[in-house]
Amino acid sequence: MSPVESLEWRYATKKFDNTKRISDSDFKEILKTLQLAPSSYGLQPFEFWVIEDETLRAELKERAFNQPQVTDASHLILFLSRTDFAETDIDKFIELSQEVRDIPNEQAQQYAEMMKGAVLSKSTRDIEEWTSLQTYLAIGQTLKVAA
Ligand SMILES: Cc1cc2nc3c(=O)[nH]c(=O)nc-3n(C[C@H](O)[C@H](O)[C@H](O)COP(=O)(O)O)c2cc1C
Repeated sequence: MSPVESLEWRYATKKFDNTKRISDSDFKEILKTLQLAPSSYGLQPFEFWVIEDETLRAELKERAFNQPQVTDASHLILFLSRTDFAETDIDKFIELSQEVRDIPNEQAQQYAEMMKGAVLSKSTRDIEEWTSLQTYLAIGQTLKVAA
């Protein structure tokens, strides 16, 4: 299927056949797309939880207006946008970036200061909005790849 054909095929499923499961390889591919979602400065201010526990899925269903999709779908991914994003997250990001990329220390520290200035000057409400918008981007990308 072309990208447009797969999006034309995609729809918000209301009733799942709970005997059918996404293959492990397809699901791994979907999870990989989460890691590759774009985010502001690459800071990834979100988390993705794959909920396998049946009791927890039943509890979540209750909180989602008892929609049967929450328990009947093959897999359930919970997208969480971070509401507690802090300076230490930027420090951890810089540490990791320096580990995996060859960035000179001075350049990394300048980048950290620039991000801290831009992100930490936001109000709590603006940080919540900033993180949730980015989480929606990841949801959109995941829906497209799933289709
Ligand atoms: C933010 C958001 C929340 C949604 N919540 C639900 C929901 O709780 N239950 C549901 O069945 N569909 C939900 N949908 C799916 C929309 O109802 C659906 O995408 C829209 O009606 C268009 O239909 P389609 O996706 O099948 O083309 C949601 C979609 C978005 C973007």
